Amino acid sequence: MNHKKKRILSGMRPTGRLHLGNYVGALENWIELQKTYHSFHMVADWHMLTTAPETTKEIRENSIEVVIDWLSAGLDPEKSPLFVQSHVREHAELYLVFSMLITVARLQRNPTVKEQARDLGLEANMSFGHLGYPVLQAADILIYKADAVPVGEDQAPHVEICRELARRFNYVYREVFPEPETILTKFARLPGLDNKKMSKSMDNCIFLSDSPEAIQKKVMQAYTDPTRVRKTDPGHPEGCVVFAYHQKFDPDTLAQVKRDCKAGKLGCVEHKRQMAQRLIDELAQIRERRIYYENHRDEVKTIIAHGDSQAKKVAQETMTEVMEAMQMG
Ligand code: TRP
Repeated sequence: MNHKKKRILSGMRPTGRLHLGNYVGALENWIELQKTYHSFHMVADWHMLTTAPETTKEIRENSIEVVIDWLSAGLDPEKSPLFVQSHVREHAELYLVFSMLITVARLQRNPTVKEQARDLGLEANMSFGHLGYPVLQAADILIYKADAVPVGEDQAPHVEICRELARRFNYVYREVFPEPETILTKFARLPGLDNKKMSKSMDNCIFLSDSPEAIQKKVMQAYTDPTRVRKTDPGHPEGCVVFAYHQKFDPDTLAQVKRDCKAGKLGCVEHKRQMAQRLIDELAQIRERRIYYENHRDEVKTIIAHGDSQAKKVAQETMTEVMEAMQMG
């Protein structure tokens, strides 16, 4: 392990197969960052319990699916450990210590947790663990003494809590933790096929594992401009799903295509056909590697076990330091 390189901790919940929104919103960024940082990539399986503690039976399998997508997209386990949070129990120990160093009122002010609770109708009976998950997240990050955390905007309030906890611990006991920076994802969220947020529960996703036929079919059915009846009607690229994909995956031709759409020269069907092909090409390599890993699940499990032990080594060292700083243990 190279200690001169700055460190990153990246985490994702194991919700199953990853979609294009996860790719653009997170994974693509991680792949770029692993070139310059020493990255730890974590499947946040304990975090799945925050909103659905009763449904655990798919978590293990989904964690493997996520790692398969990570590997297929280009995360390199030689460069950066890929591991599962609950395999490194030290996260829970540090979470316990941190839980004493933050007030309930502070946690209740977290806008992301508030919004999540509202969306899920959980406001009245939020669990203690749900309210406190940013504290677990702080433990995830600080147990590796990460210098930075790549996240989307919604997760930025949690990184702020993480920084506060680092400062608080360092002040109360002694200097152990860095204050990690937030690396905000550059690209705005990719819309789903229905122009709402791409989300598994909405059935509006293109998955990294989709076959070319499935991609073709989905893109042809995507939401476009409802005011455009004939091809010769002027189109409205703003708010069109196919344009959002175009902007991301074929930016060089965007200006021209926009002009043709507005002038009624490029019809939606033709544009969709082009975009479907572009996406099929873009995902070809990922799909190919995915087929390999799906057929070599034992290799994936070995990669995870190796990542677990690399992560555990660092986590144990940090916990020893933590207990020493607290004069405990
Ligand atoms: N809470 C994050 C999410 O919902 C997942 C996560 C858990 C995470 N621990 C993390 C992200 C640590 C970054 C760092 O997406």
